[in-house]
Amino acid sequence: MSQPELSTEKAREIPHWYSPDSETLSITEGSGVHVWDTEGRQHLDFCSQLYCANLGHSNEEIESAITDQASTIAYVSSSKRSPVREELAGRLAAVAPEGLTDTFFSISGSEANEIACHLAREHTGATKILTRWRSYHGATYGAGGLTGDPDTRAALERNAETTGTGKFLPPIPEAFDTDDPEELAERAADHLDFVIRNEGADNIAAIITEPIAGTSGAFTGPADYFQRVQELCNEYDILLISDEVIAGFGRCGDWFGIQTEDVRPDMITFAKGVTGAYMPLAGVMTPPEIGDAVAEDGLALGQTFGGHPVACAAALAAIDTYEDGVIEHVQETEPVLEAGLQEIAERYDVVHDIRGRGFHWSVVFADPETGEALHDPRVDDGDNPVHDVIAGCRERGVLVGGGRPTTQILLSPPLVADAADLKAGISALDDAISTVF
Ligand SMILES: Cc1ncc(COP(=O)(O)O)c(C=O)c1O
Repeated sequence: MSQPELSTEKAREIPHWYSPDSETLSITEGSGVHVWDTEGRQHLDFCSQLYCANLGHSNEEIESAITDQASTIAYVSSSKRSPVREELAGRLAAVAPEGLTDTFFSISGSEANEIACHLAREHTGATKILTRWRSYHGATYGAGGLTGDPDTRAALERNAETTGTGKFLPPIPEAFDTDDPEELAERAADHLDFVIRNEGADNIAAIITEPIAGTSGAFTGPADYFQRVQELCNEYDILLISDEVIAGFGRCGDWFGIQTEDVRPDMITFAKGVTGAYMPLAGVMTPPEIGDAVAEDGLALGQTFGGHPVACAAALAAIDTYEDGVIEHVQETEPVLEAGLQEIAERYDVVHDIRGRGFHWSVVFADPETGEALHDPRVDDGDNPVHDVIAGCRERGVLVGGGRPTTQILLSPPLVADAADLKAGISALDDAISTVF
């Protein structure tokens, strides 16, 4: 029987988080804070693509590190040692929270979180992991169970069982009916205490939390909140895992977001910014107690491309760049972003709040009379004005992110953006809001 002719015209790439309601850009080139699409239009990349192109596009040092490693040896089995992997583990330990000396490399943030859960369960003998409602920890079946974002859960739970996790509320004013930071910290931590006791402290292996919310709205914990979380973990023998997939690598003004809180977690997970998004790489950092157990007992798990040498070489060059003043630049320039957004919040009464730290901010929209969302984001009828603001920014040549839920937008420019770039992004946002409202 003759085979039907395959038509490549019919072949399609399926984009992730695909929505038929919005135009999907095709991006061909990038340089610094800008990218260009197939139509030749220039865009200011105000969301670092997916909160990961931290060092901007076309960084020559990272590009050469990739080429050099590829021409030396591109791939070494993840079950063997590789000098570039070992060197990277050392460089990471030097900048991570104290005591996190051992790194298990992976490929994506989702997989790093799954491995962290595995290590926590093996280490404690307990099975349950607590995470926050509205959190995002990945969309593979395991990490999707950790994710608290209702849209992601709904999409996954149609096909996968997500067991072994419990949820607690994040420290946001809407959840605890107070704007006062001290009261908020106390109520949110008391609530966590209640959830731990309710789930059974002995059953809980770990709490995984983002130190600064990523796509769910860039909110920070009020002062003392994370100290209380750590006290609860100590009291109940629960491991604290900081998901630094977005917050890490300078995004929020420190190497890792949890360092700003002066809390030492038991593990951190990282991905995105570790290579400045030049190559896929992720990992889990643990203290020696956990690493020693693996060293003694072995580990019957792995991934072919975990700690890919070319990605590790990219990460070493990225770390050199971060060390070359990028993190200080974020600290020094953050006030430009904050002040610009503050002005927007004062100018438009539909801008309910701005939240964030470093170069990761969210602008929250709400009905000025009621404080309620302008549109229920779960109703997919194309009438959400926040989508119009996002489209308006794009028409003005600025790419911003949609938050989860899309009652807010996210601004997360490359960390190399200067004050003029930040002002340009804010001005486009200002314009877009004034047109939509
Ligand atoms: C905080 C956080 N954790 C984990 C992940 C999952 O990472 P990945 O998409 O690399 O699997 C993400 C992705 O956006 C994230 O924002």
